[in-house]
Amino acid sequence: MLFLRTIWPSTDPDFSIEQDVTKAMNKPETKFWKNIKVTDNNSLIGYANIFDRPIRIGSLLVNNMALASVCVKTEYRKAGIGHTIIKKIFEFIDNKTFECSVFQTAVPEFYIKAGAKKIDNSIINSLNENKYPFWDPHVFIYPSSYLLSNEIIDLIGPGY
Ligand SMILES: CC(C)(COP(=O)(O)OP(=O)(O)OC[C@H]1O[C@@H](n2cnc3c(N)ncnc32)[C@H](O)[C@@H]1OP(=O)(O)O)[C@@H](O)C(=O)NCCC(=O)NCCS
Repeated sequence: MLFLRTIWPSTDPDFSIEQDVTKAMNKPETKFWKNIKVTDNNSLIGYANIFDRPIRIGSLLVNNMALASVCVKTEYRKAGIGHTIIKKIFEFIDNKTFECSVFQTAVPEFYIKAGAKKIDNSIINSLNENKYPFWDPHVFIYPSSYLLSNEIIDLIGPGY
């Protein structure tokens, strides 16, 4: 069995990233879900998952790809595995399965190198009193060519 919590960076023994991701995806209309796993000798060394999360950018309903739990096991980092995973994931936008991906991160340099850009738009969740739904310090959009001005972005659901 491959357990994501064996590589996700948390010091809390009760924390389960699987549960956290399931909560964020747990909307009846979630139709698309995929995870990317990289293994070495049957041991999980890299992981990410994506699922559909339509969002509202200004007044437009946008076919957004949610991105969650991108991680590489500590001793395998800085060897290009993360970049390979994220390029594979962003192909779902390059091939027009999704229009864009709005996501949060604590590692902006990693995503800039993958072709995403940092944005400063207001982000809300209209299903929870318009509260800010993310917790990481930076919000990004892929592709960097996505045209945005100062529209409010409504995740229409919890952060991921
Ligand atoms: C972020 C993470 C997935 C990167 O994985 P990785 O396999 O080390 O990344 P790569 O080796 O493919 O790096 C790709 C590029 O991003 C850069 N990069 C990666 N991690 C970085 C970091 N923490 N800070 C700055 N740059 C970083 C690399 O230097 C590399 O650039 P280069 O090609 O110019 O050398 C990994 O550090 C990780 O699991 N971190 C903890 C979990 C996390 O924060 N995930 C992101 C959630 S949004």
